[in-house]
Amino acid sequence: MIIQLIRSNLRNFQAYSSARSLYNKGMLLDANENSFGSVIKSADDLSLNRYPDPYSLDLRKALAKFLRMSEKNIFVGNGSDEAIDLLIRLFVEPDEEIVVIEPTYGMYKVAAELAGVAVRTCTVDENFQTDIAALLSNVTAKTKIIFCCSPNNPTGVLMKLQDIERLCKNFSGVVVVDEAYIEFASKPSAVRKVLNLPNLVVLRTFSKAWGLAGIRVGYAVAQPEIIEYLNRIKPPYNLNRLSGKLAIEALAKYPKMMEFRGAILEERKKLVKDLSAVGFKVFPSEANFLLVSYPQASKVAQVLAEKYGIIIRDFGTKPKLKDCVRISVGTPKQNKLLIQALKKII
Ligand SMILES: Cc1ncc(COP(=O)(O)O)c(C=O)c1O
Repeated sequence: MIIQLIRSNLRNFQAYSSARSLYNKGMLLDANENSFGSVIKSADDLSLNRYPDPYSLDLRKALAKFLRMSEKNIFVGNGSDEAIDLLIRLFVEPDEEIVVIEPTYGMYKVAAELAGVAVRTCTVDENFQTDIAALLSNVTAKTKIIFCCSPNNPTGVLMKLQDIERLCKNFSGVVVVDEAYIEFASKPSAVRKVLNLPNLVVLRTFSKAWGLAGIRVGYAVAQPEIIEYLNRIKPPYNLNRLSGKLAIEALAKYPKMMEFRGAILEERKKLVKDLSAVGFKVFPSEANFLLVSYPQASKVAQVLAEKYGIIIRDFGTKPKLKDCVRISVGTPKQNKLLIQALKKII
């Protein structure tokens, strides 16, 4: 039972009883809002003088329709970063640990350290693949969460659905699969696997393919028990009215997102060719970025930034990533400028 995995002091945790969770219509004189309106005229149409729905039901219903699941399977947060933080705080006791598969997205470790829990690392092989048997053998009685990132940032490697399933079935803790870049992948999401795997949590976001990093909306998909606990421990009004509204609007623009996806994948293909022609080793990517290596790549990144104002991300100090940099796929014009600059530098 998943409840057994929840931190013992949180099993009977009483959520903060926010005003808008008790009442959201009527003559609202209960939350010390400004009943006259907002100082910004246009904000009045959106009732921005009022706190948002604490449980973002409209957005969760829209997401449920989009995923063909129930809103009870969906937690929405202030970016998926908020879900990462809350998952660690919900499940991992101070003397327990999480496992991360290096190199990967840095926030799992940061959130764990902030929560005062240990981080055990397991490293990918030479092809950036995760050996599931080795990962499972690395797990201890203290391991509460395994974080997997698929496609992985910064390697661009996608995990097989069978591997995720195997991990969930052979690990007694929680498996979090972060699918921030899944829209760019060639294989389907693991999201519907949560229906049969009670210890699986899938994270998704509006920050990448949907082009909405600025509104900070991410979501976790899991069985209702986990979602219910995340909702209990989250800050009362974690998602603001503007972001919730824009995320709902975004879902209605699915074809536009797919258009972006198509254009980005097309550019990714071109960029692979062009970077290889310049002399970079380009690793296969299932995301909207490319991990590439070149002798003294960090120096190249530095000159790109200082001389050309083109910013890429240096990963040279991370495990297995000597001389590696990560380049986000840009527009055709940006990619052309990048390649021109690289030709001059190299
Ligand atoms: C793998 C991964 N997960 C999560 C995030 C953060 O997503 P959000 O903007 O939804 O907090 C990022 C951002 O770069 C990421 O690379």
